[in-house]
Amino acid sequence: MSFNSKDNEAFVQAAREYIERERRKKHTIVAKELEKALYQTTSASESRRRFRQSLPIPRDTEKGFPLLEIQYFEHDLDSLILSQETKARLERIIREFKDADILATYNLAYKKKVLLCGKPGTGKTFSAQIISSVLNIPLVYIRFDAIISSYLGETAGNLRKVFDFIENDTWIVLFDEFDIIAKNRDDSHEHGEIKRVVNNFLQMLDNFKGDSILFAATNHQNMLDSAIWRRFDAVIDYELPDEATRKHLFERYLRPIRRDQKIDISKAAKDSQGLSPADIKMIAAEAMKTVIIDSRNTLSMNDLETEIKQFVRREKVKHHRLEDNE
Ligand SMILES: Nc1ncnc2c1ncn2[C@@H]1O[C@H](COP(=O)(O)OP(=O)(O)OP(=O)(O)O)[C@@H](O)[C@H]1O
Ligand SMILES: [Mg+2]
Repeated sequence: MSFNSKDNEAFVQAAREYIERERRKKHTIVAKELEKALYQTTSASESRRRFRQSLPIPRDTEKGFPLLEIQYFEHDLDSLILSQETKARLERIIREFKDADILATYNLAYKKKVLLCGKPGTGKTFSAQIISSVLNIPLVYIRFDAIISSYLGETAGNLRKVFDFIENDTWIVLFDEFDIIAKNRDDSHEHGEIKRVVNNFLQMLDNFKGDSILFAATNHQNMLDSAIWRRFDAVIDYELPDEATRKHLFERYLRPIRRDQKIDISKAAKDSQGLSPADIKMIAAEAMKTVIIDSRNTLSMNDLETEIKQFVRREKVKHHRLEDNE
């Protein structure tokens, strides 16, 4: 009799149960080694993928919308362009996760709860996607503001459902737009309610048992109070790129198009001070579009500078407005 796909499913199922028993007996290393061996065979990893996809996605109690999304990415670490220091801190998270078993034998824990903060468009969400790609573990994406239901009473239940789900397996988890917790705290009539929600979330974070990495991303880190900060094993701060990094970003994002010989990327990097990686990506895209719709062959310095100027102006307008409101 051949070993068909049904046998394979049954085998994987039995193996999963065995591993789970070992884990409950606290034979963590044995369990992990077995798990690794099991999932190294492609049919088993396919089966794991199917297992993950078959899990019912938790939904909002009141309105029924999904509370999270499972996402798959295939980026490599090189596509993330950051200062060496920030990059090194992300790499460290990856390495600790890979060596979690060895660390555990010394009673040391890998960094499991990581706060990503900094200005918009600097690569916080992108970093979580990259780590998910590099570790080959799907990303569980949670729009944090979406689960803070308009009926705050539902929020605790929604959070519970999310945590129950992620504790089921190993994931890279991203609580994105995390600042909603901080922003609403000033709102006096909802203050008590929000505080309750925050405490609820922190408690679940404290009690979290799974083998995942939990990321939370915000661009309002100054609004988070110390009770929240304390819960994270690492805080990674995303700065706006310096000139050398901006140059690198232009090189990367202009790669698809042929360039005029007179293009001066160093000048572009100099002129784009204050812009984020996401801005530079958009500048490159807009400039390339101009070349294409004008049916030209090469990108000129003028194409590039026109877009840079517009973005720099946009930044100024944004800040000007902010000052007016204050
Ligand atoms: N450091 C970076 N290196 C390369 N590309 C980047 C970087 N940062 C951002 N990008 C590009 O810009 C896009 C948007 O960035 P991302 O969504 O990660 O920003 P963010 O920090 O999460 O911003 P927000 O605070 O607004 O959520 C990314 O998908 C990526 O294509
Ligand atoms: Mg983001």
